[in-house]
Amino acid sequence: MGDIRRILVTGASGQIGSELTPRLRELYGKENVIASDLRKPVSDDGPFEMLDVTDAKQLDEIVVDHEIDSIVHLAALLSASGEQRPNVAWHVNIDGLYNVLEVARNRKLRRVFNPSSIAVFGPETPREKTPQETVTKPRTIYGITKVTGELLGNYYYQKWGVDVRGIRFPGVISNVSPPGGGTTDYAVEIFYEAIKNRRYTCFLKPDSILPMIYMPDCLRSIVELLEADLSRLKHHTDFNLRALSFSPIQLVAEIKRHIPDLVVEYKPDYRQAIADSWPMSLNDSAAREEWEWRPTFDLQTMVKDMLGVLSERHRSGKL
Ligand code: SER
Repeated sequence: MGDIRRILVTGASGQIGSELTPRLRELYGKENVIASDLRKPVSDDGPFEMLDVTDAKQLDEIVVDHEIDSIVHLAALLSASGEQRPNVAWHVNIDGLYNVLEVARNRKLRRVFNPSSIAVFGPETPREKTPQETVTKPRTIYGITKVTGELLGNYYYQKWGVDVRGIRFPGVISNVSPPGGGTTDYAVEIFYEAIKNRRYTCFLKPDSILPMIYMPDCLRSIVELLEADLSRLKHHTDFNLRALSFSPIQLVAEIKRHIPDLVVEYKPDYRQAIADSWPMSLNDSAAREEWEWRPTFDLQTMVKDMLGVLSERHRSGKL
């Protein structure tokens, strides 16, 4: 790998963190990836520190003690839980990021990865093949924190040379740790319910198309951007990414090819308005040109893989 030696992962027990941490340990060495979170990780396979990212002193101590040179900052509230607790979302997502950027500046860290989201877009944004440069006027507090994060990351890069990078992630589909409080969570929940109960009540309308990504592609995108050649990057904190795009009814049809007796009801709730304000698909030409991003999973291969993994776990009584 390149110049990264010791990484701190915040939010390591969350949906992305619980799979990214082991992957980073494979690549950079077990002892060189320090997991941190408010909660203990599911698997205990390397160094871990309890960390509240809103505590700047504690964060600084961990960075110094472990000789950290890069931070993958995943601790955040998502869109739906953000709407339930806007002040907590602001505090964790903004003050937490500010602390990460400040420690990166003061301790001269090599890299910060701060994920952004499709939630930076809003009703005025073109919803199909959303361009890289476009209107970012989100209506959710989560989206507002993510736009702020993109801008703040670029500011730290331009003003102090802190190498901050980020991707506007779509909904992430995974089978290790569940997502918590996102608008795209239906696309994960449905797999668990389909296997366990053959029934699912979807909180979005059947035709709500949203962009998504399968975890193996998500993990690879993070590693590829972390390791990308800085001199080739014209963008830094706000890469659009394209992988999958589908509606609940399209996902249901694909799952039913494997589980024909699945029954799905639709009861849209407050999350529908959030989904309606987000893109259906993204133009990711900047990511493709600047660090050669290419997705590998399509709807069929993602569904087959998800059902394979979860069915096996169900059979062995671990679901
Ligand atoms: N999956 C996220 C959410 O729904 C999007 O960033 O909040």
